[in-house]
Amino acid sequence: MQNREIAIKVTLDTQDYNIFIGFGTLKDLGDRIKDLSGKGVVISNPTIISLYGEKISKSLSEAGIDFRILSIPEGEEYKSLESASRLYDDLTEFQMQRSDFILALGGGVIGDLSGFVAATYMRGVPFIQVPTSLLAQVDSSVGGKVAVNHRMGKNLIGSFYQPRFVQIDIDTLKTLPESEFRAGMAEVVKCGFLIGKDFLSYLEMNLEDIMMLNPDTLTEVIEQCCRFKARTVEADERDFGVRAILNYGHSFGHAIEAASEYKHILHGEAISVGMVGAALIAKELGWIDQALVDRHVRLLQHVGLPIKMEGLNMNMILSRLALDKKGARGAAKFVLLRAPGRPEIVEVSHQMIERVLPNLI
Ligand code: NAD
Ligand code: GLY
Repeated sequence: MQNREIAIKVTLDTQDYNIFIGFGTLKDLGDRIKDLSGKGVVISNPTIISLYGEKISKSLSEAGIDFRILSIPEGEEYKSLESASRLYDDLTEFQMQRSDFILALGGGVIGDLSGFVAATYMRGVPFIQVPTSLLAQVDSSVGGKVAVNHRMGKNLIGSFYQPRFVQIDIDTLKTLPESEFRAGMAEVVKCGFLIGKDFLSYLEMNLEDIMMLNPDTLTEVIEQCCRFKARTVEADERDFGVRAILNYGHSFGHAIEAASEYKHILHGEAISVGMVGAALIAKELGWIDQALVDRHVRLLQHVGLPIKMEGLNMNMILSRLALDKKGARGAAKFVLLRAPGRPEIVEVSHQMIERVLPNLI
């Protein structure tokens, strides 16, 4: 299994591309890129450059590619217009032309920022995603959402800009901090509930192997998640309809992140609590039974993810969901399950949200 490279094709109106999944494939990047362009930049952060910079440099040099590595400081706060502006300066200084490439080497922060710069520099240059976090490998590197944050909101300034290819080297997960791996698992569990009962059971039965980074199970998990994301994006590239199902757990999750002002809570942890909240609402509505709620709780707890976030303020969360406590009116959009593999996007009333929230905080 480890020597096999899987290719998943994403077919879109704007462009088709492949997601390549394998082990130890960073060294192959040069050969793959040289057919695309002879010059470009790798955008990453100091941690990832210290781990993988040499490998990438060797691969690109051996392929005869003229490149520079550009480093952005670590952290969500650097997914900003200021960082983009600094990168534009570097690109002009390197005399990057429209056919030259930008390669994102890192997690979702580097992927989103680099993609935003690739989409806007000279109205768009070839973009390559080399995701190194679990979240980026199963979610953010696929589908073309690129963005930077603004003080008024996360991902407020962005675009849809598809990569030329995505190259997932599963070996890079060996250096990912455990807390980040667990946070990425929230998106995997999300896929379990969205894809359906077979994949959900697979996750439940193979959780220990996944957490131990067993190569075969990890490959299966990343492949299934990427296939699912690819099919969903193909059905709705611009996120006007069905793509919103990918936000399972995100309504409460985003509100929790915002209410905590993004301090000390990883995105995956907030999504974990959000999925439990969505399951509780579905149960209150009579869509699912307690057993499926329990499956959420058990699986997320086994991963080591939280199922509630004590100490958060209910009014803050309601206001982040754009609901006003006093008025007790209005509704917010949620993705809820009818069953594993049967998500629906619905408006949930203020009263229902207020009823469920105390279980989460
Ligand atoms: P991240 O990019 O901050 O990476 C998490 C941490 O892990 C960082 O400290 C990073 O340096 C480190 N890291 C990454 N790979 C590593 C490796 N192999 N070895 C050692 N350390 C490594 O966070 P993330 O969870 O990958 O991404 C979160 C971002 O993704 C957010 O900005 C979010 O908005 C965005 N996102 C985008 C989409 C999309 O569709 N574009 C979807 C989901 C999330
Ligand atoms: N991560 C959600 C999306 O790509 O639509």
